[in-house]
Amino acid sequence: MESLITKIQQEAASATYVGRKKLLDTFRDLQYSIEAPEDTMQRLMHLNLQFAVIRTALDLNLLSVIRENKAPSNLHDLAATLSVDPLLLDRLLRYLAALGVINEVGKDSYAPNAYTFNLAKPEIQAGVKFYFDTCNPAFQEMPRYLSQTGYKSPTSFTDGIFQRGNKTDLITFDFIHGDPSRSAGFNLFMKAQRGSQTKCFGIYPFEEESKGWPAEKPLFVDVGGGSGHQTAAFKEQFPNLPGRVILQDLPEPVEDAKAVVPEDVERIAHDFFKPQPIKGAKYYYLRMILHDHTDENSVKILQHLALVMGKESVILLDEMVLPPEHVDEVSMQADLGMMAFHSAMERSEEQWAKLVGAAGLKINKVVMYAEGFNLGIVACVLK
Ligand SMILES: C[S@@+](CC[C@H](N)C(=O)[O-])C[C@H]1O[C@@H](n2cnc3c(N)ncnc32)[C@H](O)[C@@H]1O
Repeated sequence: MESLITKIQQEAASATYVGRKKLLDTFRDLQYSIEAPEDTMQRLMHLNLQFAVIRTALDLNLLSVIRENKAPSNLHDLAATLSVDPLLLDRLLRYLAALGVINEVGKDSYAPNAYTFNLAKPEIQAGVKFYFDTCNPAFQEMPRYLSQTGYKSPTSFTDGIFQRGNKTDLITFDFIHGDPSRSAGFNLFMKAQRGSQTKCFGIYPFEEESKGWPAEKPLFVDVGGGSGHQTAAFKEQFPNLPGRVILQDLPEPVEDAKAVVPEDVERIAHDFFKPQPIKGAKYYYLRMILHDHTDENSVKILQHLALVMGKESVILLDEMVLPPEHVDEVSMQADLGMMAFHSAMERSEEQWAKLVGAAGLKINKVVMYAEGFNLGIVACVLK
């Protein structure tokens, strides 16, 4: 058994993302194949408890302390350092060890493992917290909402699963950005979202297409660019491409972007449901924007861009392009997540073509850039 485990670990270490995912899927299927019915029930019904205990551990900084301690951490020392009731901490630690989040190395003694280290980065923690606090109420509401609305794919932006789950009538991004700490957490999480994946900037032919572009004209407008991680990556990849580089989003992320983007990036608070102020740019770049919107609202966003596009302008949709069959778990989670949060969806190439066509645009090319993630650039021009 030991040598089998070592062999599998070695294989995983040298595998590509796709190879590693295949391995993980194989283990998942193996696990399910040996579960008894009670195992399946226990696993399912405690998913939320596991999440709640890990969320609590993050609040307490418990995993950080265990990670940073040179030697295994003792229950009573941890209780004193973190000012937590030792009985409560004992119960939390024992459950975390039983889940494999930490290792129990002796009585009352705990050490970090790969899981503990996977939860080290602030942006990963931000994602976990954001999903627990803001997305889970929507997931909890999903079955009731779908039953009450007659099992149709939701389309309401103001009375969707998210609104009912979070007891709000605000649209999702107003709800998120209306609370500074939720907004900051979401913006940080966006850095981790797809953080390990290849970016499109090294693959899409930006330099070739924008040869001779005048320095005074807008080159790259990151529409709904959040706090600027992609704009910053674009500038890093192409420090010498001539032309203005502009980041647009709602006021809060644009303010946060001050610390992220270089000084020569123009930061403009702009609502993409209003007329686009930057005319005739080479690229209007929208990453993970339209997957947040229904077809109807996506067409409105695109039409505002179509109205200001010049002959050489291109809209770049940096999005998932779902394959026609055997879609992976991560992509389908994204699709149903978009349904729960925004009554929106991930789309196939056929669905993209129909959508952009309704806004007076056509697809020029699709450049897939991250194997295994279904990520591509859908480049659109005026019809
Ligand atoms: C899923 S995030 C993607 C952010 C960024 N493009 C990225 O890839 O990291 C969607 C972004 O759209 C922004 N947004 C939502 N509604 C908007 C609106 N009406 N006008 C401009 N930006 C908006 C949000 O603030 C958020 O930053």
